[in-house]
Amino acid sequence: MSFQDQIKSLFVEEARIPEDFRIDEIHQREYLCNGEMRKWDGPVSEVYSPVCIPTSEGLKRKLIGTYPLCTEKEASEALEAAVAAYNNGRGEWPTMSVDQRIKSLETFIGKMGEQRSLIVKLIMWEIGKSQGDAAKEFDRTVEYMLATIEALKDIDRQGSRFEIEEGVVAQVRRSPLGVVLCMGPFNYPLNETFTTLIPALIMGNTILFKPPKHGSLLHYPLLKAFQESFPKGVVNTVYGRGAVVTPGLMASGKIDVLAFIGSSKVANDLKKRHPKVNRLRAVLSLDAKNAAIITKNTDLKLAVSECILGSLSFNGQRCTAIKIIYVHKDVADEFLKLLSEAIPKLTLGMPWDKDVKLTPLPEPHKPDYLKEVIEDAKANGASVINENGGASEASFVYPAIVYPVNEKMKLYREEQFGPVIPVVPFESIEEPINWQINSPHGQQVSIFSNDAKEISALIDPMVSLVSRVNVNAQCQRGPDVFPFTGRKDSAEGTLSVHDALRSFSIRSLVATKLNESNKQLLNTIVDENDSNFLSTKFIL
Ligand code: G3H
Repeated sequence: MSFQDQIKSLFVEEARIPEDFRIDEIHQREYLCNGEMRKWDGPVSEVYSPVCIPTSEGLKRKLIGTYPLCTEKEASEALEAAVAAYNNGRGEWPTMSVDQRIKSLETFIGKMGEQRSLIVKLIMWEIGKSQGDAAKEFDRTVEYMLATIEALKDIDRQGSRFEIEEGVVAQVRRSPLGVVLCMGPFNYPLNETFTTLIPALIMGNTILFKPPKHGSLLHYPLLKAFQESFPKGVVNTVYGRGAVVTPGLMASGKIDVLAFIGSSKVANDLKKRHPKVNRLRAVLSLDAKNAAIITKNTDLKLAVSECILGSLSFNGQRCTAIKIIYVHKDVADEFLKLLSEAIPKLTLGMPWDKDVKLTPLPEPHKPDYLKEVIEDAKANGASVINENGGASEASFVYPAIVYPVNEKMKLYREEQFGPVIPVVPFESIEEPINWQINSPHGQQVSIFSNDAKEISALIDPMVSLVSRVNVNAQCQRGPDVFPFTGRKDSAEGTLSVHDALRSFSIRSLVATKLNESNKQLLNTIVDENDSNFLSTKFIL
């Protein structure tokens, strides 16, 4: 069988899909707004899986459902609901005590757990993620939420006391910011949406939440859980085309925080629409093109296994993926040989296949785009050096190692976000450092070497150019307690379990001069539990 036919044969008739992983179409005709599941009978968007089914007309992406394509009108109703629930910080949710807000989130986590198998299956079908990785995404999200609760208790405990400085007594706590518009990406549709939505919510903000275009249906099973766990208007959904429903929300000036994970182009466009630039806070995780640098003193086997993980996990569709590799000329041949040998060891298949590593791609234009960047590299002097590299059928693209890449090629600059590995040979370490200096991105880098002096000589310039330097390891976001951010066009604000809580809140304080009558006043307020803010209650 030709390799092309092998790829084609990965797509099987529905009868051959294991029963546990078959899916019934989901036709969502409702959305959550102001505490109500509102009915929708307008236009809908069809959701096609990257998983194709063989038909008499060839391979066709399987239809798995539809969701509402709402308009500006519904988006603005959702905004009004969030504004009313916040009520200038006087709403039920922003004034609720922290332990009560935690209880609401715990209720939500319990209800979310009941939907685990459906959501995991939807992640697999909507974006083609393997069953193992889809389950990991769900579980990691729940762990993130539980860790968020612990981090918030910690922050609240620190704020549960008075501080005295220069004759002034004060209580300092973190307060919410207002209405937060949350938008996550398709590659981690649940996890990355929730790593902003949940901290924003638990800090007392009210939420407008727009699910990503690919990875929308998987949020449907959670809408009821949101409705039942939080007061009305605290979580509202915005369904529809981003270009239709989001510009008006920003232009209203009523969004206090934009939490967006996606492209810098869209983030810039949205930010510019807000009439009060100083009022808008932005928490953004954007484009990245992380480099791996392989020096001549590297354990090449280790470098290859980390580069394979870094560049091909979820088919290279991670913002943290290694998207360009610099290799020293003296070890380039050996490195490329080992890298090429590692690729056929990766299992190709459908998301439910055992140990599958390479799966179909959700974005319909992606196979053509990857072909285009490979052709552009070839036209400028590079070749695909691994057997069958770049072979493609329908939504599936087999990884391509492209070498030697130079500055004339799109792959040198563009974030390919797919299974293509550009490799650049270098002689002087200044070459990858200069590439990083001139790059518009600054998220992470991976340095491979066993020479302590060489590593330190790279760490020092790189920490000023990116926000995480990985030594002899691939780039990654986790562990989630570590800061996740980037320089230049890669991010704004920092996300970690702890930092996210800070990003979605502001420190507020109540202060007074320390004298007898003020002391008595404060004690009365605290003793009588009159204020949620001014309180020494301690969450255990
Ligand atoms: O797409 C970007 C994700 O935040 C990457 O997370 O490094 O854990 O895969 P990860």
